[in-house]
Amino acid sequence: MFFRSDILNLTPYASARDEFDSVGQQSLILLDANENSLGDPLGRHWERYPDPHQRALKQRLSGIKGLPAGQIFLGNGSDEAIDLLLRAACTPGLHNAVILPPTYGMYAVQAAINGVEIRRANLKSDFSPDLAAVLAQTDEHTKLIFLCSPNNPTGNCLPDAFIEAILSKFDGLVVVDEAYIDFAENPSWSRRLAEFPNLVVLQTLSKAWGLAGLRLGMAFASPFIISILNKIKYPYNISQATQLEVLEALQAEAAMQARVQTLLRERERLREALSQVPAVLEIFPSDANFLLIRTTDADGIYQKLCAQGIIVRNRSREPHCANCLRITIGSPEENQRLLQIMQ
Ligand SMILES: Cc1ncc(COP(=O)(O)O)c(C=O)c1O
Repeated sequence: MFFRSDILNLTPYASARDEFDSVGQQSLILLDANENSLGDPLGRHWERYPDPHQRALKQRLSGIKGLPAGQIFLGNGSDEAIDLLLRAACTPGLHNAVILPPTYGMYAVQAAINGVEIRRANLKSDFSPDLAAVLAQTDEHTKLIFLCSPNNPTGNCLPDAFIEAILSKFDGLVVVDEAYIDFAENPSWSRRLAEFPNLVVLQTLSKAWGLAGLRLGMAFASPFIISILNKIKYPYNISQATQLEVLEALQAEAAMQARVQTLLRERERLREALSQVPAVLEIFPSDANFLLIRTTDADGIYQKLCAQGIIVRNRSREPHCANCLRITIGSPEENQRLLQIMQ
């Protein structure tokens, strides 16, 4: 089974607002949740706990993502979903999870916090995955494999055939983290959920949607997996402010798409310009909103950029990433300034 038996048997906290919607809201006198009926000090109407099921938001996202609301979990960033998946699936000190470094750092950090062993099957030096190496890391205690596609920090998508092989050959949960999918040409793995009961797809509003400050991450999976995540999350994990602001922002899909197109154009402009810079040895292909570049001296360039007020990510201590910097594609003006200094 995918999940800890104690989690399967857990009776979750029933929150005060669980039956709120079904009763008809207008004329209710709400004296059930120890809120402050006089309101918040600025009168902005934050005094009530938010909908723990985020119904309105899920309905809207359901339309955008083409998935039933029952297959959508919403978290305080996708980092919350990573944490909950580890906790729901792994008994501390017993179970393990597999990652494919270099990859997103939070998988290993969250695993460590939860007392879960991390096993590493490094990508090859061209950043392609090694199927045999991944499967060789699994044993009967392996509960999760984290696949990041497009991968952070390398920028490439993992091949469909590889992901499909993992989904069919591994019987634990396969988490495909698609934080950067809106910058890629590949379609989301969420369209294959019906085929793979062990598939969990993660997405976020922090990247293409530009809503990192609101903290909204999504997990798409079978209704059963989603029900387990909902059972163990904090009841009010998505604030009312986030629910309202995101609902409004989701109406501006065209503006989001236009920004994605600008970032993609900027990415290619930056690639072209950086390829002329003597200190840049290699620029890796990217399906994301960043470029990984190999330089003559990552530490030195990192320090020089810092001194000019430009912060990039030094990834040079990651496997196969000697002297590599990860540069987020900024606004055209920010990219121009970066180029001036690099040149
Ligand atoms: C691959 C990947 N997954 C997840 C996240 C976390 O996203 P969120 O802001 O939704 O927690 C990031 C953020 O950088 C990321 O790079």
